[in-house]
Amino acid sequence: MKKNNRIAWLFSIIVFFLNSSIHAQNDKGLPQLGKNSLKEVIAAMTLEEKAQLVVGNGFSIPGMSQARAPEKVAGAAGSTFAIPRLGIPSIVVSDGPAGVRIEPIRNKDSSKTYYATAFPVSTLLASTWNTSLVKDVGVAFGSEVHEYGIDILLAPALNIHRNPLGGRNFEYYSEDPVVSGKITSAMVNGIESNGVGTSVKHFAANNQETNRNTVNTIVSERALREIYLKGFEIAIKEAQPWTVMSSYNKLNGTYTSEEKALLTTVLRDEWGFKGFVMTDWFGGKDPIEQMKAGNDLLMPGTQQQTERIISAVNHDSLDVKVLDQNVERILNVVLQSPSFKKYKYSDKPNLKKNAEVSRSAAEEGMVLLKNNNNTLPLKNQKKIALFGNTSYDIIAGGTGSGDVNKAYTISLLEGLRNAGYTVEPDLQKTYTDYISEQKRLHPKKSFFQEFMNPTPPPAEFVPESALVTAKAVDADVAIFTIGRNAGEGRDRKVENDFNLSDSEKQLIKTIADAFHAKNKKVVVVLNIGGVVETASWRDYVDAILLTWQPGLEAGNAIASIVSGKVNPSGKLATTFPMRYEDVPSAKNFPGKEFAEQATAGPFGRQVPAEVIYEEGIYVGYRYYNTFNVKPAYEFGYGMSYTTFDYSNLKLSSNSFNRDITASVTVKNTGRVAGKEAVQLYISAPGKKLDKPSEELKDFAKTRLLKPGESQTVTFTITAKDLASYDTNRDSWVVEDGSYTVKVGASSRNIKQKASLNVSKEIVVEKEHKVLSPQIQINEMKPQPKAF
Ligand code: BGC
Repeated sequence: MKKNNRIAWLFSIIVFFLNSSIHAQNDKGLPQLGKNSLKEVIAAMTLEEKAQLVVGNGFSIPGMSQARAPEKVAGAAGSTFAIPRLGIPSIVVSDGPAGVRIEPIRNKDSSKTYYATAFPVSTLLASTWNTSLVKDVGVAFGSEVHEYGIDILLAPALNIHRNPLGGRNFEYYSEDPVVSGKITSAMVNGIESNGVGTSVKHFAANNQETNRNTVNTIVSERALREIYLKGFEIAIKEAQPWTVMSSYNKLNGTYTSEEKALLTTVLRDEWGFKGFVMTDWFGGKDPIEQMKAGNDLLMPGTQQQTERIISAVNHDSLDVKVLDQNVERILNVVLQSPSFKKYKYSDKPNLKKNAEVSRSAAEEGMVLLKNNNNTLPLKNQKKIALFGNTSYDIIAGGTGSGDVNKAYTISLLEGLRNAGYTVEPDLQKTYTDYISEQKRLHPKKSFFQEFMNPTPPPAEFVPESALVTAKAVDADVAIFTIGRNAGEGRDRKVENDFNLSDSEKQLIKTIADAFHAKNKKVVVVLNIGGVVETASWRDYVDAILLTWQPGLEAGNAIASIVSGKVNPSGKLATTFPMRYEDVPSAKNFPGKEFAEQATAGPFGRQVPAEVIYEEGIYVGYRYYNTFNVKPAYEFGYGMSYTTFDYSNLKLSSNSFNRDITASVTVKNTGRVAGKEAVQLYISAPGKKLDKPSEELKDFAKTRLLKPGESQTVTFTITAKDLASYDTNRDSWVVEDGSYTVKVGASSRNIKQKASLNVSKEIVVEKEHKVLSPQIQINEMKPQPKAF
């Protein structure tokens, strides 16, 4: 470089640095987020600004309340305050697990719409057992978050299906924490690959909707660690989401949002979480305790909370250093946000492409429960007698914040027609007239009114038996769809919900009698968000296809399975019991109320209550298998149009010192291409600690295997996988002894076994003595094994 050039170069560098430091301090010499260090920005904030940042912007409910600052994205669930003088933008958060939840029409102007893709509900996604597919869904989902100007999606949600009546089970994945955790990680990674954040929720032990704002969940440390925290632990360690949402409930006596042991000791110190924690909407009671616990952001945020925080700092009941830490954690996330980066969102996500993603996910998560004599796919039967309200008015997803404002939903009627079937026209007319009349009589109310008092779905229409008999002559086959819907705010009921109603059962019988008399088949489609009873009626029908609530392409996706265009490969991530009474938590759900202590809450009367998890770790298949209670359809179960053979299970070592691998070969032995969800379970010796007879430790989905084609899948087994939580030692411990590695097609259909020896006890991790229940829990235990 010549001397003059070098001087010019040096000069330009000096000018650059001078410029940037001038920019770093704005005209008034103030530090700016992103240009100055967070410490400098926080030091420049007034107490009022800090208290504003940790309390959200409020909540707009038409006619009831108004957000404190204008909403950037109509219908989003909330936002934070901007502090423009320090370069801090507002960030926007929006629900929810099945699609971006925002207002589709703004200011009554329908010339521009803001619809979002309704993806299949979470329970369906878990039933795919396919983490790479779930990641693809996340990528598509996150693109809508990004293009609609949202910074953080309030999802995924991964509470455990403790009981089939849980009103939000459709928003959650599974009864098993490994499935929940791994599917969550895939979803978080997919969504966040767009440069937007997620809020993994509801942390933790939030497994019911009855008394959800006040219920005290009483659970042992072991069940907490192994079942209710485990999925979160996996997701935090594998995917490091931007944020976590604490739950509404109390956990062993303290609101989760006020529990430092949960939000700091476990989440941050033990698991290494780096983001911020927000409350659920109006969750918890005491903003000062929430700040101290490490619940950094209070949502949706009220003026009183801001004032209480200011006053607590002024009166020395809240150390400003604690507040500074809450602020710092929020600002760290704000720094990564599209709003901070001034992303110019289009308001035009690729809805067409995402609908395809939604459809293929739906096709892969449907579970074929029964298929006598290859009833499905329907190859030669082209004329369908279509029964059931939800055949014509399908349920794409659940209600409440898990609902999505989608542009359309393909009904089963449309889906079958699109696939080339014809549907009996007079039956169609009878049903559609009935449904229109019911909708006219009971129109949908506003979101808030529906939330408080949902309009019940139209009662199942029961066609006259003469019509059914006539259709058995005209049509080639009958399909009867049974629908169920639920959502936040209330749990489901046993009668007429978990159990089919008398008219539904009667109709199954009438259809089956009429069609079987003509040698024609009957297929039941279950369009449900949560588990229903099947044992009392399944023998009447030839095939049962569980479609869950499959998102906006519902009818097309179902038709793909019905026609055989797609071979079903979904399997249950939650057990279908024979009867409700068989459910291990049936006696303890939803707990008991203390009506005399009821107080007024933001959404009406709040009743303190408690629920004791007496089933301990024996949740779902852990209970059914260990206590020999036969379910109707077990965890991990699902049929295919082809068959698979499992062979050659090999462990990298038969004695365990550190991680080992297990590989198994899966071969398609049938006549059509298919995918198989392969599951790895472990049976532990259970000497000092009682153990479930088997526990899922890993799973994999094969690629689409052609007839005759094989694939070898490999799993890794770590010491933590073999360990149980020993409460006396506050540690994850692997007992010495003989373990069995079981690879199977379901939790009760084990295909290959190998034994694994642990010669000496391993203490894998020592945790903190926290979150202990205040009372002795009379936990369920299997008979001790003889050694
Ligand atoms: C729900 C959350 C949701 C929030 C914001 C609450 O009622 O429990 O899951 O994210 O509302 O809509």
